[in-house]
Amino acid sequence: PPIRIAPSLLSADFAHLADDLAQVEAGGADALHLDVMDGHFVPNITLGPLIVKAVRRCTSLPIEAHLMVEHPGDFIADFAQAGADLIVVHVEGNWSVHRLLQEIKGAGVRAGVSLNPMTPVGHLEEMLPFVDTVLVMTVEPGFGGQSFIPTMYDKVARLRQLADSRGFPGLDIAVDGGVDRETAGSLVEAGATTLIAGTAVFASGESLPDAIATLRRAVSLGPT
Ligand code: DX5
Ligand code: ZN
Repeated sequence: PPIRIAPSLLSADFAHLADDLAQVEAGGADALHLDVMDGHFVPNITLGPLIVKAVRRCTSLPIEAHLMVEHPGDFIADFAQAGADLIVVHVEGNWSVHRLLQEIKGAGVRAGVSLNPMTPVGHLEEMLPFVDTVLVMTVEPGFGGQSFIPTMYDKVARLRQLADSRGFPGLDIAVDGGVDRETAGSLVEAGATTLIAGTAVFASGESLPDAIATLRRAVSLGPT
């Protein structure tokens, strides 16, 4: 399948967000990843529906909201109305994931689940029939610019095996955290199909289109 690249706006220039959005869109980004943090689920506060709505007005790319908040169910309607195309909720701390996924789909939005680095792949087993995407955190959620956790290559490979063995060979597996030119090739080799990247797109030293091209080249060259 084609590999999707989703720049994570956490590392964008929020004072010139429209410029950054135009550049990643011109550079061939496949989607925009927006990290929603509430200071409770993770020790950081970022953005909410207001920013999703503002981004919606300046791009036609799909908007993917990654909810790192307590009680995500309270905000699904808000993010759907703001223009999110995909809403991803974490399995951690949520006892009723099926209900959350139903609510997301009921709002007319694609639904995904995310796993923290230390949450086992098996935790997803019952969820596979109900999700459009699985997001594997490859750093602890909360901040951009952290180092990739090397055991996550194997975790992605085991998730791909689980999806294949359960009859979901087309499952979209997104990886988030420390994805860059060094890690991207091996992640795709392990079975990732969506690369979420903040630092590697917005703070690489290259122009934003060049940074996206660098990631695509790293994937086509394979593991480093
Ligand atoms: C972290 C967020 C990521 C973050 C990744 O909690 O979920 O989306 O932006 O940043 P980098 O690519 O810099 O590791
Ligand atoms: Zn994220």
